Amino acid sequence: MGVLSRIGIALDSDLLERFDNFISRLGYTNRSEAVRDLIRDRLVAEQTASPSATVVGTVTLIYDHHSHGVTEKLTELQHAHYELVVSTSHAHLDRDSCLEVLIVRGKSKQVEEFAGRVIGMKGVQHGRLVMTVARPASGNPYHGNGNSHTHKLIRKH
Ligand code: NI
Repeated sequence: MGVLSRIGIALDSDLLERFDNFISRLGYTNRSEAVRDLIRDRLVAEQTASPSATVVGTVTLIYDHHSHGVTEKLTELQHAHYELVVSTSHAHLDRDSCLEVLIVRGKSKQVEEFAGRVIGMKGVQHGRLVMTVARPASGNPYHGNGNSHTHKLIRKH
């Protein structure tokens, strides 16, 4: 972590009130930490958006294990992409429903494609991919974690 800099932000009072309510619901006791976390979250999103970025994450799935072949197909797809799937955890929610969480790691593009195939599989009722990075930028992204993707942060849209 670098030297702390103090900044002032001008905000519309309505926006500030909404922000304070929002962070209070999340359990923040001071604005600074909430603002830092929001900035980090946005920077991580920017980092993971780069197709060549190395990301880690989770794919959360809900499915009915009675649904024809879904268990076998999920296992097969995970074996076919064993280099992306670090581990899996399974919970039997009730007689029918299963919750499965896959921990994934790899290039952003490959992880997204894999997650899309898993989530889109017939029999999977709901799924969500969450991507992050092993070392979120704590400060200046250009002095980031040395990953080869950091140059993507300065691309023009
Ligand atoms: Ni189950």
